[in-house]
Amino acid sequence: MSAAVLPQNFKNFINGEWIESRSARTFENRNPASTDELLGIFPSSDEQDVRAAVDAASAAYKTWRLVPAPKRAEILFRAAETLVRRKEELARTMTSEMGKVSAETRGDVQEAIDMTYYMAGEGRRLFGQTTPSELPNKIAMSVRQPLGVCGLITPWNFPMAIPSWKMMPALIAGNTVVLKPARETPFSASRLVEILAEAGIPAGVVNLVHGSGAELGPPLMAHPDVAAVSFTGSTETGRSVSLACARDFKPCHLEMGGKNAMIVMADANLDLALDGAVWGAFGTAGQRCTATSRIVVQKGVYREFRDRLADRAKSLRVGDGLDAATEVGPLINEAQLKKVMEYVEIGRNEGAKLTTGGHRLEKPPFAKGWFHEPTIFSDCAPAMRIAQEEIFGPVISLVAFDTLDEAVEIANGVAYGLSASIYTRDINSALRATRDLHTGIVYVNAPTIGAETHLPFGGTKHTGNGHREASVAALDFYTEWKTIYVDYSDRLQRAQLDT
Ligand code: UN1
Repeated sequence: MSAAVLPQNFKNFINGEWIESRSARTFENRNPASTDELLGIFPSSDEQDVRAAVDAASAAYKTWRLVPAPKRAEILFRAAETLVRRKEELARTMTSEMGKVSAETRGDVQEAIDMTYYMAGEGRRLFGQTTPSELPNKIAMSVRQPLGVCGLITPWNFPMAIPSWKMMPALIAGNTVVLKPARETPFSASRLVEILAEAGIPAGVVNLVHGSGAELGPPLMAHPDVAAVSFTGSTETGRSVSLACARDFKPCHLEMGGKNAMIVMADANLDLALDGAVWGAFGTAGQRCTATSRIVVQKGVYREFRDRLADRAKSLRVGDGLDAATEVGPLINEAQLKKVMEYVEIGRNEGAKLTTGGHRLEKPPFAKGWFHEPTIFSDCAPAMRIAQEEIFGPVISLVAFDTLDEAVEIANGVAYGLSASIYTRDINSALRATRDLHTGIVYVNAPTIGAETHLPFGGTKHTGNGHREASVAALDFYTEWKTIYVDYSDRLQRAQLDT
């Protein structure tokens, strides 16, 4: 199945204009379900393009920061309305470039809609504090200030949602942005920027530069006019972003890997836990930072759960995400497929039991895409690499346990800390788990995916660096506090001294 006819040549968006890269190099955007389908040709930009984009953002910041936030919000509201109107079309093209099934790409566009409306609403809040001074005839207040130009580097797994998580709070707070989207999903990012431009974003406030992260990331982060950087992607790349920003004390927000565990207690509603496991592990073909990638099951129900989960995994329909019957789409590209296949090999070698799946699908109708069977390893030891490292594919590791304390220890016993979940009917177990699981997000009787835009999103340990996206927490990253003291006593008053 092919998507609607798409324009073939895409450009960067700099200072309000769609322009070619100065490098004149290009890269192709192909459908991961059918790689002979070429969706578009995009500019492979270079350092000069990055500089032009930052210069434009820097010039536009001078006026954008002074636009009243409720006026900035009006533009975001208009953009959200366009997203609503074009949701179906945007979802279809997103499935063509990213592979996940249509229901999920609709969800991705919906998440962008939610974030855009939410942040537009913040235009009439952006609250600070007003407080009496300790001295007479003096008041004090704190106000949120924008940071300046924000460099935003986004991944391919949520092609519209994640760019919107970063752009919308940055913009409502009065920052200008340079967006560098993943090379695998440049089309969705272009559409989002185009929609913002049509909604009235002034020239230079939003700039888009396509190309390779390795080439464009370093000049973007090092540019003296870039005030802050937000990055979502691998922990390895996040470390280099962090180090690059540290040199100039630039705030950077990092949202990186996960190895999210679902705990299934023997008293759980097993039907519900199975539904959650299938959705959490195999939705988006496991390519979410929040994907359920370990299931820790209490011994009394371990065998039953394993067998029923294997039956469910075997019956999942893998295919082109545009086909309404498909439940699991392809992986994003060959490198990701190879990584999954390597981990299957690693799992076998370290002695885990391959319960179902474990193979690439390459015969027709799968011959032209990057498809892999939903895969379950059982009897995994918590220390095995397949139970420790992020795979980012449709592979789940099952681990058995005796007590809740042990389950929590297993769940926490990884380098990451994004999301975790517990299935139980016991209120005490549920509340203990919400307290003791060392992750940024905990679900009770729901899988590890499904974050909503008005709540903080992010993780502990090697998943993040202490910041959160979405919700009002995002504004804490994209603004800094300015404290203002106003003394109307008409005399020198000395804090701490004139008591
Ligand atoms: C991601 O996994 O990269 O909670 C983001 C979720 C989605 C966002 C996931 N709302 O799974």
